[in-house]
Amino acid sequence: MVISSKFLDALTPSSIRSITAKIRDKAKEGVQVTSFAGGLPSKEFFPIEDIRKINDWIFEEEGGEAIQYAASDGYDPLRQYLVKFMQRYQVTDIDYKNILITSGAQQGLAYLAKGLITNGSVVIVENPSYPGALDTFRAYGAKIVGVGMDDDGLKMDELETALKKHTKGVAFIYTIADFQNPTGRSMSIERRKQLVELAEKYDTFVVEDGPYSLISFDGTVMPAIKSFDKYGRVIYSGSTSKTIAPGLRIGWLIADHESITKLVYLKMRDDLQVNNIAQRQVYRYLKDCDFDGHLQTVIDVYRRRRNVMIDAVKNSFPEGTHIVVPGGGLFLWLELDPSVDTLAMFDYVFQKNIAYVPGVFFCPDGSGKNAMRLNFSTASEKSIAECVPILGDMIRQYIQEQ
Ligand SMILES: Cc1ncc(COP(=O)(O)O)c(C=O)c1O
Repeated sequence: MVISSKFLDALTPSSIRSITAKIRDKAKEGVQVTSFAGGLPSKEFFPIEDIRKINDWIFEEEGGEAIQYAASDGYDPLRQYLVKFMQRYQVTDIDYKNILITSGAQQGLAYLAKGLITNGSVVIVENPSYPGALDTFRAYGAKIVGVGMDDDGLKMDELETALKKHTKGVAFIYTIADFQNPTGRSMSIERRKQLVELAEKYDTFVVEDGPYSLISFDGTVMPAIKSFDKYGRVIYSGSTSKTIAPGLRIGWLIADHESITKLVYLKMRDDLQVNNIAQRQVYRYLKDCDFDGHLQTVIDVYRRRRNVMIDAVKNSFPEGTHIVVPGGGLFLWLELDPSVDTLAMFDYVFQKNIAYVPGVFFCPDGSGKNAMRLNFSTASEKSIAECVPILGDMIRQYIQEQ
């Protein structure tokens, strides 16, 4: 007998999973796909030796306590360290009790969805946005409303129109303000301040998701929206997935003390606590190893890969392709001629063992048909320089054949 409920039966695999599955099928046949579809940091730079060393320190210093049951709100030394860490984003007005450690940012987003969304409530998001968040918000009953972006991020006039329209229950506004997934755009400081004011005016919350903020190609780290939050309207979500390693699954939520207490109760009902070892690994890595040196290495590599990708797109994609040049993060967002349907084109391109993510996967209103997201963090400069022109040729051929 298969388990069944309204909730379970409504769940579907994520759209990007369908691409991952195709890539896996090819791998089983012994064919290597050059994937620009993933959202992964590059594993060649994961700090394996440091983590290995840290594991020894943990057991030498703490013995069994390191793998004992522990508090649901998180490992206090890590929470305390994150208070200091958040100064990088000019978030200064917090203490460790404002922080809940989560199993990656994704778990924090799921807690906010479970806690704040009641069936039918609206969540306003950037259009396009991160499908992993959209799927989670939908799973807990949200109606997703997308608001347009320009080079300064979420458009505040459109946002206000949406807030006015949905007077009953906007659970929160979800934004990835820095080097957004998928567009690579960042929100201007002016708009960050306006966003806080709008949340206050329309009695809602901002969920600020910041996994890419430190991957800044010119080294500028923007003040978080949270740093302008005079009213307790912003819940910040952090992660070390893109800066250290995603498999450690360390993220954190920042909110006022009472909200954190409620989220801790939710966590108790969910998984009790985040893995002790991973919390210690991240704490010791940030505190005792060369996190900034590591970050700089990754930034330098990703910047070079981004540049190679942009050059290759400029030289090989059809005329009229619009490129959003990202100042950081992992992604390049491209808009092709409006007649091109990138979802329909996917299998055609995939014949050449190249993958991308079609733009519609990111757009809650079904727009983005002519867009695609390319990831530049995982493939080498050589592979980008070789494969992007093949992708460009395939797009030209596809357009000719239509
Ligand atoms: C915008 C955004 N938020 C959250 C996540 C999930 O991060 P984590 O690995 O910390 O759960 C991702 C992963 O790609 C992401 O792009």
